[in-house]
Amino acid sequence: MNNKVIDFQKSKEKLLNKKFPNVSSMPNATNNESYNESRKAFENFQSIFFAYKEYLANSDGKKEITLEEVFVHFNRFFDEIYKELVKFDYSKTPKFKEILDYAMLSSGKRLRPFLMLVTYSFLEGKNFFILSPFMVAMESIHTFSLIHDDLPCMDNDELRRGKPTVWKKYGEDMAVLAGDALYMQAMSILMETVFEFAYSDIGSAVITSANVITKLSGLSGMILGQVFDVMNTGNLRLKIDDINFMYDKKTSALIVASLIVGTSLSIKHSDSFIEMERLGLFIGEAYQIIDDLLEIESDEKTIGKSVDSDKKNGKVTYVSLIGIGEAKERLDYLKKESNLIIDKLTNDNNYKDALIYKEVIKYLFKREK
Ligand code: IPE
Ligand code: IPE
Ligand code: MG
Ligand code: MG
Repeated sequence: MNNKVIDFQKSKEKLLNKKFPNVSSMPNATNNESYNESRKAFENFQSIFFAYKEYLANSDGKKEITLEEVFVHFNRFFDEIYKELVKFDYSKTPKFKEILDYAMLSSGKRLRPFLMLVTYSFLEGKNFFILSPFMVAMESIHTFSLIHDDLPCMDNDELRRGKPTVWKKYGEDMAVLAGDALYMQAMSILMETVFEFAYSDIGSAVITSANVITKLSGLSGMILGQVFDVMNTGNLRLKIDDINFMYDKKTSALIVASLIVGTSLSIKHSDSFIEMERLGLFIGEAYQIIDDLLEIESDEKTIGKSVDSDKKNGKVTYVSLIGIGEAKERLDYLKKESNLIIDKLTNDNNYKDALIYKEVIKYLFKREK
């Protein structure tokens, strides 16, 4: 085994000497020259993010910047940190690297990492880069959930992000393994981050973040929701309470976790958990209701995935249970409540970030894909 994978000697020294960075410094890894690409992409993203904030606060005479442009830069930054953080010896299995890159570096919206960052910035976090390992871990877990969700034994879908699903292109065996690999890789990134920062002054925030991602991915969150979903496929006795339970778990849990990570690492407002958890639940529920609606009202080309998946599988959804009209009323309510939470947490220092958050909420509630 390559003993550089875990440098035990270095770790031991760190633990013994407690030579840890403090909040104002970047993660150690970012000082390493091999991080140049992600550093550059990060700086590009950061400058457009700040410019967007200023544009929203005062658009007079300024060139228009759209949220879509911010997303483009964010995606580039994300792809670079993914490439830096997810490295393995693929010399004997080059095809597997191709499969992971196919899954991870495709055109996902990166919504969860982005929400993590927007939350962190809104709550006055100053060092975006510290979010990197948590963003990669979160998106890896999300992607793992989608790869498995599409398998023939689950939703049996052939299209995802505008391309053949992983199982369709590379086979079911590889899809199962790619999901496994991404999940375990996420755990490994989280453990290493805890290992590195446990004794620093952001130690408890890092541990809280790793803990919440792990918990809300598994039997307290996403996996439990998927279990409930699969076990109740075709169950016409499902009630709205059951649907709410399923959406809270399968979709909201990872969104809540993203908001809690941003909250926790922001340090200054790390007591805003209750509000941010509520916001995550509102956004998550809305996200899944819109997902159901898009299947009915949109087309395959626009959403990049199949539009008859729920129907073909006999899934009971929020929309199939209470109808399009009432589902849209629920969305209006969730949007109003989400904005109220942002208002409640807005102060003289973060009012510009509140504008960004509200734009993101607006985007999420009228998203077309
Ligand atoms: C799809 O998630 C699954 C749901 C929870 C609705 P996204 O809509 O975030 O998927 P990608 O990552 O952008 O493809
Ligand atoms: C996906 O739910 C949720 C997770 C993978 C956790 P769906 O099965 O409803 O989402 P899509 O429509 O396949 O993206
Ligand atoms: Mg599903
Ligand atoms: Mg599905």
